[in-house]
Amino acid sequence: MTAKNSTQYDNKVILGPMVRIGTLAFRLLSLRYGADLVYSEEIIDWRLLRSKRMVNEEMGIIEYIDESDGTTIFSTCEEEKSRVILQLGTSDPERALKVGLLVQDDIAGIDINMGCPKDFSLKGGMGAALLKEPEKVQAILTTLVTNLKIPVTCKIRVLATVEQTIDFCKRIQNCGVSAMAIHGRMVHERPQHSNRNQTIREVAATLEIPVIANGGSKEVTKYEDIARFRDTTGCSSVMLARAAEWNPSIFRPEGKIELEEVIKAFLTIAVDTNNPFTNTKYTVQNMLRELQETPLGKRFLATQTMEDLCEIWDLKAHYNAKRKTYELYRGWSKHKSDA
Ligand code: FNR
Repeated sequence: MTAKNSTQYDNKVILGPMVRIGTLAFRLLSLRYGADLVYSEEIIDWRLLRSKRMVNEEMGIIEYIDESDGTTIFSTCEEEKSRVILQLGTSDPERALKVGLLVQDDIAGIDINMGCPKDFSLKGGMGAALLKEPEKVQAILTTLVTNLKIPVTCKIRVLATVEQTIDFCKRIQNCGVSAMAIHGRMVHERPQHSNRNQTIREVAATLEIPVIANGGSKEVTKYEDIARFRDTTGCSSVMLARAAEWNPSIFRPEGKIELEEVIKAFLTIAVDTNNPFTNTKYTVQNMLRELQETPLGKRFLATQTMEDLCEIWDLKAHYNAKRKTYELYRGWSKHKSDA
């Protein structure tokens, strides 16, 4: 089976999937700083299947909305269309395919999560549970590759031995996927364990499709470190999660910029894309980290609305202008009540 558009994943710097972080606002900021591709947070198949696609002309975004409670499951826009990869949590080929058919005209690729170690995923046969189910993996990937027009990829973790990892990866490659990302930690390992860069290297040397190295955020504190991580792992591309979560300007070839400026840029896009207050605050909190102890951090922690947040970063005028524009929009009142 020939892989579709593998070059899309070749020699790229990629924002990795992160639950609650990889929103449209965060993805756009990462792209504007220089990321080549951006992964959405993992979205569970049945949530997308019960959503309705709505075009929000006022904001220039497309939203998949859960009609039962009005929450947005996934939102996207033209700016990221050729560069956004939707990551799916699934354990079932038919459900995965239905989602793929639903979203494929809005995105650049679809990725299957095969690394999540959380109970919720494992109990549902998703995420890292798939690492023990090669037949199911094969069924999901071949169903998607055969029936979708967009590239299909998956993101895995290393297995107990290099040989097992390589065998598993070859099986995945044979399904016709366009690329695969590999996180150099086993399912039970936590971020403090060192990343198995050598295993990733051996996988990359064996496979023909682009292999995307992941797990190196602790080794990546500046832009130049990205190329170093790629060379150490012998991979075609690099995927960053935590290094971007802490400061997405890591994607800037010119170098990182001050966190305060990054947060201001993020808040501006969060307002523009109708990102809910609670998520916006969570994302900023993950950037501020130890700075939460500073006077600015304390002011930040006390915020209760999007307007409060915008005030700290001198964006109240922007917030109010947008609010006026979108006053009639259904999402805006939800946005306010969420605050
Ligand atoms: C993650 N990770 C993750 N992985 C995945 O495949 N789907 C997901 O939705 C998430 N969610 C998520 C949220 C947060 C807050 C973090 C920190 C991580 C794992 C992530 O994509 C990556 O594999 C690891 O963090 C290792 O890469 P880094 O962080 O060293 O670049």
